[in-house]
Amino acid sequence: MVAAAIIVDGRLLLAQRTRPPELAGLWELPGGKAEAGETAEDALRRELREELGIEVSGGDRIGDDVPLPDGRVLRAYRVELVSGTPVALDHADLRWVDGRELGEIDLVGNDRGWVPDLRLHLNGW
Ligand code: CDP
Repeated sequence: MVAAAIIVDGRLLLAQRTRPPELAGLWELPGGKAEAGETAEDALRRELREELGIEVSGGDRIGDDVPLPDGRVLRAYRVELVSGTPVALDHADLRWVDGRELGEIDLVGNDRGWVPDLRLHLNGW
């Protein structure tokens, strides 16, 4: 599983989940499942095009691996916004947060361990 840290002007893009019910309303770094044969960067480019209508590039790791209960691993990557304005095509809402807001928002549990690393790149803390 891959998740994107998109940071513009010291703010991180967060997306609010609509499903499953236990995660609905919580905020996450957008992303999803890499398909067979896809690199992490390929998967992020596809997922962010589908979910947010944007083009991104790059993919340096940020934060630690998060082992998921089903044996998969969730990894976050810093990507650059190349073109487009994010639209919540598959989420309830989107927000750009600074470091203080990132510390206060209700993130999905899997993403919480990334906060200290993410904050190093954000304004306002
Ligand atoms: O796009 P797709 O439906 O394949 O994936 P998703 O529903 O966005 O993510 C699948 C699972 O990955 C979620 O149920 C979460 O457990 C996990 N995930 C996460 O914990 N944190 C993220 N930033 C992205 C995904």
